[in-house]
Amino acid sequence: MATVLVIGASRGIGFEFARQYRADGDRVLATCRTDPAAERLRKLGARPLQADVLDAGSRAALLPQLGGERLDLLILCAGVYGPRTAGLAVPEPAEFDRVMHTNVLAPMHLIALLAPTLAPGAKVALISSRMGSIGLMASASGWLYRASKAAVNAVLRAASLELGGRGVVCMAFHPGWVRTDMGGTGASIDATESVTQMRRVIAQANDSHNGKFLNYTGEHLSW
Ligand SMILES: NC(=O)c1ccc[n+]([C@@H]2O[C@H](COP(=O)([O-])OP(=O)(O)OC[C@H]3O[C@@H](n4cnc5c(N)ncnc54)[C@H](OP(=O)(O)O)[C@@H]3O)[C@@H](O)[C@H]2O)c1
Repeated sequence: MATVLVIGASRGIGFEFARQYRADGDRVLATCRTDPAAERLRKLGARPLQADVLDAGSRAALLPQLGGERLDLLILCAGVYGPRTAGLAVPEPAEFDRVMHTNVLAPMHLIALLAPTLAPGAKVALISSRMGSIGLMASASGWLYRASKAAVNAVLRAASLELGGRGVVCMAFHPGWVRTDMGGTGASIDATESVTQMRRVIAQANDSHNGKFLNYTGEHLSW
């Protein structure tokens, strides 16, 4: 039985990670921001933790809530898309801050905060996006989101260099285009398929996967 912490598990891909790991009998700690979300997670058999990743006090309160648990897997899933711009429409500063703080600064804080709780050989899965790939980019749509995911990919890569020496395997994932509130109803796969595939890749990951950017099906993606 592994101990898994999912950050951003109230709905969408994060909720599905919590559901599937619980269904397999793992110990699941899962963060959310509201009481109804906590109740849905409790019904799965997960232990809900309250965390708004934008709030420093809320992030810091995670450690005492963990109560000395050692994590075998940390999944960083909380994210926002921000303004759905086309072309070179410049985001408002407040939007820029919200997207960059949620998608980039929060994972930096959380990785640093939670690193001491990772068990030897633990894995860190950061849910990024192919839209953050500079090499594969073919459109300017949602360029703030793209920039945030490119930045968090660099964060993941840097973390892999720090934590790899302790046997921790850090990976960035593109989860596919997934039918969630963010992905929309026209997306190509559902959360069950996305998470089933990522869980298979995570389970098989070894040292050679540390610092890699992976499609949900396991293929390497260009940064
Ligand atoms: N869906 C796709 O097609 C797709 C594609 C590529 C990458 N991704 C990435 O996959 C991840 C999950 O996306 P999703 O499709 O599941 O999105 P979603 O359905 O919109 O869910 C977003 C999750 O992030 C949480 N979150 C947002 N801001 C937060 C904050 N300040 N503090 C704590 N939690 C916060 C939300 O919690 P609340 O319920 O409390 O708001 C929710 O649990 C994101 O990082 C996204 O960028 C998704």
